[in-house]
Amino acid sequence: MRVGILGSGLMGAKLGTIFARAGHEVVFSYARGEEKLRQLARDARGNARAGTPREAAQDADALLLAVHWSRMDDVLGQAGDLSGKVILSCSLPMNDDNTALVIAHTSSGAEALVTKVPEARIVSAFNTVPSEVLFQVFESRRRATRPSLVYCGDDEGGKQVAAQLITDSGFAPVDAGPLRIARYTEPFALLVGELAYEGNDGPELAYRFERFGA
Ligand SMILES: NC(=O)c1ccc[n+]([C@@H]2O[C@H](COP(=O)([O-])OP(=O)(O)OC[C@H]3O[C@@H](n4cnc5c(N)ncnc54)[C@H](OP(=O)(O)O)[C@@H]3O)[C@@H](O)[C@H]2O)c1
Repeated sequence: MRVGILGSGLMGAKLGTIFARAGHEVVFSYARGEEKLRQLARDARGNARAGTPREAAQDADALLLAVHWSRMDDVLGQAGDLSGKVILSCSLPMNDDNTALVIAHTSSGAEALVTKVPEARIVSAFNTVPSEVLFQVFESRRRATRPSLVYCGDDEGGKQVAAQLITDSGFAPVDAGPLRIARYTEPFALLVGELAYEGNDGPELAYRFERFGA
């Protein structure tokens, strides 16, 4: 797939690198310096290049949206027309000092995103995992058991794209249902972050779901 990265920070840089190493064509965009994007593309050691958000969005089969909530309108504006685009959003609707969700319980960042780009196909994915575990999970992808990664959305085609990229990244995709389920997964992401950074297990922690009963 052609994957555009909108936001090449902790999440976007790592996931873009992983997608490139998994064989996808990646465009890194949106950082405070162009040289950083070019360096990421070189270090990815795959089919990767640097570009503007508009170039990342053009011809993309999927876009990874990985910016702080406060940068959302800016990056979407720079990306241009996103009609029909599959957008995997790992962005959480956090306040400026990252201490609280600014949208929660009766809505979610993912649902708010739909109102910003109603013509796009939004899937909430990759936000329930700390960026620190991503490379380890990718390196361990041939193991029998994989950590789970939940995703949700209302567009079936978009969800298939998400499930493929989640699988290629080394996780077991878990379809959590429609986009409104992001009301539960976004606060859950804060729990995972709390355990990873404040708990005893450190950032290696990535969760696994067990199916009970038959
Ligand atoms: N980090 C995690 O473990 C994690 C886990 C789950 C969910 N999330 C969510 O994922 C999203 C991205 O998180 P992150 O940790 O990857 O954030 P980040 O490291 O801050 O990355 C954000 C990107 O936006 C760029 N940026 C910021 N201001 C800019 C500006 N004025 N002009 C151009 N580019 C600008 C940054 O540029 P620079 O590269 O130059 O700084 C960076 O590439 C957030 O919504 C977060 O809540 C993060």
